[in-house]
Amino acid sequence: MSAILPVLATRLSAAAAAACGSSYADVDPELRSATKPEFGHYQSNLALRLGNALGQPPRDVAARLVAAVQLDDLCEPPTIAGPGFINLTLLPSTLARAVNEPQTFTSNGQRVVVDYSQPNVAKQMHVGHLRSTVIGDALCNVLNHVGYQVLRQNHVGDWGTQYGMMIEQLLGEGLTAESLDLVGLQQLYERSRKHFDADSSFADLSRGRVVLLQSGDPATRAIWRHMVDVSLDDFEQVYALLGSALTRSDVVGESAYNDDLPRVVAELEQQGLLTESEGAMCAFMPGFVGRDGSPLPVIVRKSDGGFGYSATDLAAVRHRVGTLHADRIVYVVDHRQALHFDQIFTLARTAGWLPTTVPAEHVSFGTVLGPNGKPFKTRAGGTVKLVDLLDSAVARADALLAGRDGVDRAATARAVGIGAVKYADLSSDRGNDYVFDLDRMVAMTGNTGPYLQYAHARLTRLLSKAGTTGGEVTELQEPAEQRLALLLTGFAATVTQVAETLQPHKLCTYLYELASALSVFYEQCPVLSSVGATRASRIALCTATRQVLQDGLGLLGIQAPDAM
Ligand code: ARG
Repeated sequence: MSAILPVLATRLSAAAAAACGSSYADVDPELRSATKPEFGHYQSNLALRLGNALGQPPRDVAARLVAAVQLDDLCEPPTIAGPGFINLTLLPSTLARAVNEPQTFTSNGQRVVVDYSQPNVAKQMHVGHLRSTVIGDALCNVLNHVGYQVLRQNHVGDWGTQYGMMIEQLLGEGLTAESLDLVGLQQLYERSRKHFDADSSFADLSRGRVVLLQSGDPATRAIWRHMVDVSLDDFEQVYALLGSALTRSDVVGESAYNDDLPRVVAELEQQGLLTESEGAMCAFMPGFVGRDGSPLPVIVRKSDGGFGYSATDLAAVRHRVGTLHADRIVYVVDHRQALHFDQIFTLARTAGWLPTTVPAEHVSFGTVLGPNGKPFKTRAGGTVKLVDLLDSAVARADALLAGRDGVDRAATARAVGIGAVKYADLSSDRGNDYVFDLDRMVAMTGNTGPYLQYAHARLTRLLSKAGTTGGEVTELQEPAEQRLALLLTGFAATVTQVAETLQPHKLCTYLYELASALSVFYEQCPVLSSVGATRASRIALCTATRQVLQDGLGLLGIQAPDAM
């Protein structure tokens, strides 16, 4: 599908230059989809802009633009509406051509680092990690699709003082690391935490163990390594169930930056960016103050000499720019870390590790809520395990498929159940919280994953009955087929917009509109029972729609089964 919008924009800019002077050639023609079908397909606010700039009535400017613009090969004669909007209606032949022409993206020569998923060792993944994983996977797909080289970085939480406690507890209890699975590790963590708080000699031993861990003592490292591996094995099972693209080789955990931390702090110190405060080394930056006016420093080295989460993130930025040569860095992390990233990006720019040419973006997201509208917890108040949620989604989908023939039940239930959960997560503005409501997620109507998957499966069935993919779209007489075609030509622009704004819900909204236009098309335009060129053209339109649904769902990380 070739994008029509840029062509129309170029033509309008040329008209602006011809009608109002060459200095206006660069004015944004503000082309938008028409808000109502009677306004045609597109609307431009160019005359209002220029009228403003020139101090002339916009309708007069619009009349001059319409006289100057050369669009007769693409559109019906433009019309002027209201205060000076220019309405454009594409010729059916233009639409048909645009649907038939493949729209391809080429490499943009840019490398983007995407930091996402980031679960913590010795803890089960929770619904927050689900959001990061699902959004991150979708963004990686989209960025890759529009021509970026994508480097996934799973910034696993695998470092810090808690491992000193856990290892000391393990040794004290005479356990071996090999005897523990992830649940066992989580329980070990809880016991060690209590022990640490209650017993100061144990606390001292634990601190000593952290020093051994950080300095690379082989026995201590071996136990830690085992704990990390047990956790990563578990995470991998969740990724496999989710169909995430993340692999072991994308794991670059917090521990990976251990050796860089002293240097990061030393460099900041040399640059005069650090101040000692109560024994800790801190960066105080202008503009970072709490509500009560007190400063909010970045603590890069704690009073006990240990480095924390912030120092690690500074080292990570330095590595991503300096070694990985990132042109753009994206962090998919919940909204509670907004201040942290604001501080890290500001400090990294000040220190010269993050040039202004490299955008760093915190892709923030809201909280997953339980049925009671509060952050999702089990009845006992614990965090909800991700695998349990996914398993119940698959079970719901399986029930939905009861009695359908020609369906590979187990595989389809997985695709539909997991797809439903992912789509529900991706389809609302990521900044918002959402309620984890399985009934709504697996519904076959409304803006849901199964609705889109069903639209795709229904097209697949229709096309297999047709026995042909139909060749090219040649005629688009009916409004319902024009509307469908117009939407198809907007796919590339939608994907581009998601790559820019990092808002996957825009792709969901687009696909939902497409599927809705498809059902109107089915009602108003017979496909298999029509004849001749109309039949062939409609089949081709169905083929193109099926492809966009499949590609769009694919970008969201959602499978599109052929039957369901
Ligand atoms: N592991 C952290 C958590 O679960 C998130 C890490 C986010 N990424 C980063 N570069 N800080 O809260």
